Amino acid sequence: MIVLIGGEKGGTGKTTLATNLAQMRAARGHDVLLVDTDKQESASSWASLRAEEGIDPTITAVQKLGKNITRDLLDLAKRYDDLVIDAGGRDSFELRAALVATEQIFIPVQASQFDVWTLGNMAELVEQAQVLNPRLRAFVVLNRASPNPSVSEAKEAESLLDDFPALTFCGVTLRDRIAFRKASSAGQGVEELHPKDPKAIDEITQLYEIVFNEK
Ligand SMILES: Nc1ncnc2c1ncn2[C@@H]1O[C@H](COP(=O)(O)OP(=O)(O)OP(=O)(O)O)[C@@H](O)[C@H]1O
Ligand SMILES: [Mg+2]
Repeated sequence: MIVLIGGEKGGTGKTTLATNLAQMRAARGHDVLLVDTDKQESASSWASLRAEEGIDPTITAVQKLGKNITRDLLDLAKRYDDLVIDAGGRDSFELRAALVATEQIFIPVQASQFDVWTLGNMAELVEQAQVLNPRLRAFVVLNRASPNPSVSEAKEAESLLDDFPALTFCGVTLRDRIAFRKASSAGQGVEELHPKDPKAIDEITQLYEIVFNEK
């Protein structure tokens, strides 16, 4: 399966979600490749750090930039069970090209910063890609929501997304938790971090199950 984590807005959690999903997939015995289409190389650096620290399982990461990326992704998809693609911010060539190769994009949206303009742009990009790639489905995942469980940003997201038929809320909300930051900076997935943060693990597991249809 090819899973794209993308979006035009910077700092919404794309790399955090991509690295966690790749780690979880690998830990469950799948041959996964983490594809970094971001010039900042954050996902690749996370994988290198992981290798340096000797954390098992090793996650193979490659950086892919430039014109041939759609063909490269389709080629790589034949050699791995799964590709998890971290498509950096901005309306990049790589994001557009990856949208043509993938079946699903998950777009992290920072709960406190609903940005209708960016969502509208993403919806347009998705619709354009669907002309060439009708299987493409686009989901929004809420990230960095208030850790206070009484605050439900999900309702707001759902009503906002009514205006964009190309985008569906996937139903998962990840809250702002230090564990996500700590795990990323240690080259880990949040389920590998000690001490464990059961709430963070529960949230990322919900996302994992939706992405890989494992409910
Ligand atoms: N749920 C979360 N809780 C706490 N911190 C988070 C969460 N998600 C992401 N972060 C932190 O927010 C910052 C931005 O996240 P990340 O690098 O994943 O975003 P990005 O979309 O990949 O950014 P860019 O557009 O620069 O590639 C990082 O410091 C990350 O650790
Ligand atoms: Mg990133």
